[in-house]
Amino acid sequence: MADLVMNLYLNGGKSEGDDNAAQSSYERTDGDVFSRLATDVSTCPFTREDSGEIGWVDNPSNHRDKSDLNDVYADILSSEAIEDLFSRRVKGGDVIKVEGKDGWHLIRVDDLFIKLVGDTDTTADGSKNRINKVRPKLKGSGQIPLSPVFQKIGTDADIIDSNDGIDNDDEQSKMIYSVPNAKHYQILTSGCQMNVADSERIMGVLEGELGLKALDAINTADPTLITTSNKKSKNKKKPTPDILLLNTCTIRDHAEQKVYDALGPYTAMKRAGKPLAIVVAGCVAQQEGEALLRRFPEIDLVLGPQYIPWLGELLVEVGKGSQLCMTESMIWSEKGGIGAIDKDSSREKDGDWMTPIKRGHSVRAWVNVIYGCNEHCTYCVVPSVRGVEQSRSMEAILQECLQLAASGYKEVTLLGQNIDAYGRDMIPKRTFADLLHYLNDNLPPNTISRIRYVTSHPRYFSERVIDAVANLDKVCECFHMPFQAGDDEVLRGMRRGYTFDSYMKIIQKIRAKAPDASICGDVIVGFPGETEEAFQRTLDLMEEVKFDNLNTFAYSPRPNTEAANWENQIPPEVQSERLQRVQALAAKHALERSERYVGKVIEVLVEDRNPKNGGEVMGRTRQGRQVFFEGDIDELKGELVNVEITEARTWSLVGGSIQD
Ligand code: 5AD
Ligand code: SF4
Repeated sequence: MADLVMNLYLNGGKSEGDDNAAQSSYERTDGDVFSRLATDVSTCPFTREDSGEIGWVDNPSNHRDKSDLNDVYADILSSEAIEDLFSRRVKGGDVIKVEGKDGWHLIRVDDLFIKLVGDTDTTADGSKNRINKVRPKLKGSGQIPLSPVFQKIGTDADIIDSNDGIDNDDEQSKMIYSVPNAKHYQILTSGCQMNVADSERIMGVLEGELGLKALDAINTADPTLITTSNKKSKNKKKPTPDILLLNTCTIRDHAEQKVYDALGPYTAMKRAGKPLAIVVAGCVAQQEGEALLRRFPEIDLVLGPQYIPWLGELLVEVGKGSQLCMTESMIWSEKGGIGAIDKDSSREKDGDWMTPIKRGHSVRAWVNVIYGCNEHCTYCVVPSVRGVEQSRSMEAILQECLQLAASGYKEVTLLGQNIDAYGRDMIPKRTFADLLHYLNDNLPPNTISRIRYVTSHPRYFSERVIDAVANLDKVCECFHMPFQAGDDEVLRGMRRGYTFDSYMKIIQKIRAKAPDASICGDVIVGFPGETEEAFQRTLDLMEEVKFDNLNTFAYSPRPNTEAANWENQIPPEVQSERLQRVQALAAKHALERSERYVGKVIEVLVEDRNPKNGGEVMGRTRQGRQVFFEGDIDELKGELVNVEITEARTWSLVGGSIQD
């Protein structure tokens, strides 16, 4: 099995001349040597500001076009130095000297990302192996829990949408067998868009492959668990589910405890004799793994996000009495490169475009483009629960978008935890800007007219993405660029790889090239060690940018993250006081940003009825602002209309009449 170094995570410093004396005086005596090297002697302002941290650097030989390489490196490592680095066989922990025309660099390899080549058997046909991981039921206290029997009734991978999907006769006629005794499911979802998109895929598998029906919403102890079930039950007496699925989030707060609280009534129901399958999916599942099964022997399946395509098979196993923990990391991603899908169509589950998806909306849809995250932000649990980056091929993404276009969708939002990393795990390399161009050029006219994406990372964001947003007709003028903090010391502690000034440089480029674009962000207050002065820098940055929308969070220590173990934690009362201050300022800026639309006629894509006023509809501008205005949803749903904006609210706009 050959392997190929795709990316290296680097630390280091740079010197103008060939100064071996300087090199030998910095022998690796402690873990901090590169921080000192960079801070004391490096002539590179970027690594100096960042204590030597360089971040992930791509292998240039995998880029067809050298202009694809992230702009950021040009300021840190010369292209000769990068090429020299990748021409050697390096491994984690190596310290090496590389030379480029602008000087020499002393580099430490902190991590590497290797593409396994020629390993298709394990990636393509691993489902059998995974199912063989069946373990006998764990003995819990009391009765052995019961699960209903599941049987696969269809393998059709059509996209199912909420309007005319699984309920119509055509879909029913595709079903091959009947379901022995499992009929209804209940899914409770918490967390980000990624989790909502995952729930759509879970529902697609439950309905499309197992023929189950969604139950009406049921109350749970946890108000943050939102039901995504949208079926209205006709019976007064609510049926109970045959399968309960919790799709969980662990990014903040006491997520595990919330899951335990939500599980309580169902485990009790099961112990009382109700045949019920309990599945815990999402990030808590991935984080806790078998510990969940030990704590709650009533759980049948712990499902890491990457195993969703196999959910049908796994539930059939559960129906036979197995208890499964599917959280081991695996690599399954579609091979990059044109024609990859055609070459290997036998890989039935090779990518989620093949699994049925029950879309929650009929106008806009989520499309995953890259899973996982390779970053090392010291507060974030995502890399440990979502695994390494795995990009889907551009062709598979287009395929899914074309299916959406054919079903009448008008907008797609491309999803990735760090979307700027898109394509760096591919051979040949692709970039996120390439993907935007490819989709923009290949989606037929008058179908999907809006492409959005989340989430950018300031460290890897490239100017080509700004150009794509500014120039491509379908790509919306909307940037989601989390800054997390304004103070350089705090940013270093977070290991974000940029500074106040370098973040502002990106904002200036955006404002110059796409002046009307909205800029949204995420911020964390009360990160360990954040002083009042440091917090003030966050407010300063907000004043300079004036975000259209800001997601504000108080730092919460997460398991398996570095910062959780630091001693300089900030007391909760200080955190909540700072949170209130950022929220007040964010609201002030959001209103100012809304006001710029008043009196203008703006293109709005109509999505829904206004839930608070049935005579009004809700749509969104290209910049992502909600607009409420009078109209008939049956006539306008999915239409692009020009609306005059009459009033600005903090987070939304009010529209007047539709203009021609
Ligand atoms: N505490 C608080 N906020 C966090 N985020 C991620 N991890 C944490 C944490 N431990 C926030 C970041 C990220 C958003 C999705 O959630 O702002 O961008
Ligand atoms: Fe978490 Fe985003 Fe950092 Fe990845 S880039 S570790 S998802 S905050």
